[in-house]
Amino acid sequence: MITGHAMVCGVIGNPVGHSLSPLMHNFCGQALGLDYIYVPCHVQDDRVGEAVRGAFALGFTGINVTVPHKQRVMPYLAELDDSAKSIGAVNTLVRCEKGYKGYNTDADGLGRAMKENGMEIGGRRCILLGAGGAAKAAAYLFMREKAESVVILNRSLEKARSLADEMNGKAGRQFMQALPLQQWRQLEGDSYLAVQTTSVGMHPNEGHAVIEDREFYKKISQAADAVYTPARTRFMEYVEEAGGQAVNGLDMLIYQGIAAFELWNPQVKVPDDVIGQVREMMEERLHG
Ligand code: ATR
Repeated sequence: MITGHAMVCGVIGNPVGHSLSPLMHNFCGQALGLDYIYVPCHVQDDRVGEAVRGAFALGFTGINVTVPHKQRVMPYLAELDDSAKSIGAVNTLVRCEKGYKGYNTDADGLGRAMKENGMEIGGRRCILLGAGGAAKAAAYLFMREKAESVVILNRSLEKARSLADEMNGKAGRQFMQALPLQQWRQLEGDSYLAVQTTSVGMHPNEGHAVIEDREFYKKISQAADAVYTPARTRFMEYVEEAGGQAVNGLDMLIYQGIAAFELWNPQVKVPDDVIGQVREMMEERLHG
């Protein structure tokens, strides 16, 4: 039941109609019996500052930020969490005294999704495919969880190098290195933990993987694909065919939302059965 005392949160984006966050958040609020409502807000690119100030004046407790505003929103925030600073993008605003504090829950979402699926990062040799926005969150997670080493494989070597340099600087150790995609044969040994963050293979371009050579996948024992449409990507098929374990990006998406929900409702820990129901609902919505 939504009363006059309801906690109000929402998501800003341009466009915003495709966002699954309203579905997920309102479901959780209802399942937990909270007086909580989450609304989609379509905000034009040149009105992000106005929107943030307006939301604060309207009493919004929290706001998610989606494409293309994740960086644009940063100048309008009172404070930035280390996650947002390191990833260079914000996806969650939490109300504080003077305005909003910006967080990025993508790394937490990926980390929890991996943990729940039995993928431990600490001490592991890792592969990061891609060097864009999603890769930055994964790189930050690898640093925070103390991966033994990370090889970033990317089409543009420059982008991979600059991400590796940035994370090596932050970590104070040279644990990340960059390679162009086609030089994957330089990877020594096997049993790598891989995270796939490129858009290759995403609907409507199913049937492709960023590396098509089956030999590459023999090096991977566990992998997470950030893509969640289709539910089973070509990348996942290759990993599984080579005997490895693979998960798609749906849990990542769900847990980044749960992390925001728990930042806004610090007294709440969303129970596993509710998360299971959220997953079913999202799968139904995505794949019918
Ligand atoms: P996101 O925020 O979703 O990570 P992005 O920042 O545009 O999106 O990054 C897209 C990633 O997919 C990049 O690593 C990109 O490689 P480049 O840095 O070389 O551009 C990668 N990517 C996209 N299309 C690709 C393709 N056809 N082949 C290989 N890599 C591709």
